[in-house]
Amino acid sequence: MTTPLRVGVISCSGMARTHMKAVQANDRAALVAVCDIDEAKLAQTAADFGTRAYTDYRDMLAADDIDAVIIVTPDQLHREMVEAALAAGKHVLCEKPLALTRADCAAIVNAGRASNRVLMVGQICRYTPGFAQAKALIDAGEIGELYFVESEYAHDYAKILHAGGWRSDPLRHGMVGGGCHAVDLLRWVAGDPVEVTAYGNRFCMPDMPYDDCTIAILRFGSGCVGKVFCSTGCKRGYTMRSCFYGTKGTIITDNTSPEMTVFRCDETGKAVAEQVPLVINNHNAVGEFAEFCSLVLDGGEVKTTALEGAKSVAACLAIVESAAEGRPVTVDYRF
Ligand SMILES: NC(=O)c1ccc[n+]([C@@H]2O[C@H](COP(=O)([O-])OP(=O)(O)OC[C@H]3O[C@@H](n4cnc5c(N)ncnc54)[C@H](O)[C@@H]3O)[C@@H](O)[C@H]2O)c1
Repeated sequence: MTTPLRVGVISCSGMARTHMKAVQANDRAALVAVCDIDEAKLAQTAADFGTRAYTDYRDMLAADDIDAVIIVTPDQLHREMVEAALAAGKHVLCEKPLALTRADCAAIVNAGRASNRVLMVGQICRYTPGFAQAKALIDAGEIGELYFVESEYAHDYAKILHAGGWRSDPLRHGMVGGGCHAVDLLRWVAGDPVEVTAYGNRFCMPDMPYDDCTIAILRFGSGCVGKVFCSTGCKRGYTMRSCFYGTKGTIITDNTSPEMTVFRCDETGKAVAEQVPLVINNHNAVGEFAEFCSLVLDGGEVKTTALEGAKSVAACLAIVESAAEGRPVTVDYRF
């Protein structure tokens, strides 16, 4: 494929604009078109970014001068848009969560398997500097064998949740919509949790059709255990505070602080803390798009595959089921 990679973005939301800026920041890509059903928002975005505009995403997919699309629409639309984009021969970067149901996730995974195009899911935490550095240290054996991992997704949705909006769909449980970031991070670092036990409550947003607070205990195949806390009603600044405990050290990091703490044992066995500076970038769309662009132009193995996105949704759905039914649930990763 020749450069530039010609990209269209479906949606003109704030998050979509973050993706548009990431495309324009990449010197091997060009933002060609944007799409939204909201005509005023579409016109403004097309003017701001200097692109063509489409109100129907199918018309955008029919354009021969678009090689790839980024899908930033409500989760419920991901399946139909990914399927249509791959069928039209486009490479696809689709926002997380991949979808809200196992059936939709399976359909997306299968559409990807049947296509020879790059299909990547936007599990952005894998591009967050603090988390990527923690993962590299863990993989290098710096903190020994993991025995406990935890992550939280604490994000006040009060301003973005409203009755009738797509986030108020009972299927769009906070654990799936936002908590999938924390679950995906722990899966990336510690492997697949095989069983989950969860509890939830609804103190902050009693009118929503799902719990705004969920806590889950995870048991991984390695014997490591874990914990995820997800709150979409919390009264505090957004954070994904995460801790990784190993037999030789501990890492404490998040997505909004300028440094992380790494404990390593000295020669006497005492844990000594080091403060490691970090670039704060909790939506590293530039890094994520650079990876996508390189996969399309240069080839290589997709790491944040649709299957990875589907497995994270599967673990989240198991957590929701466990909290609802009051029993441990084995996670089904078969897609
Ligand atoms: N990676 C992250 O951390 C992160 C952050 C925010 C949102 N997201 C994900 O991005 C997606 C969108 O979320 P958002 O916050 O941007 O939502 P939003 O509600 O702010 O915006 C969605 C946009 O999609 C448009 N739209 C709806 N139906 C459409 C259609 N058929 N064709 C074209 N456009 C259509 C709407 O008009 C709206 O402009 C979701 O999957 C969400 O989970 C991810």
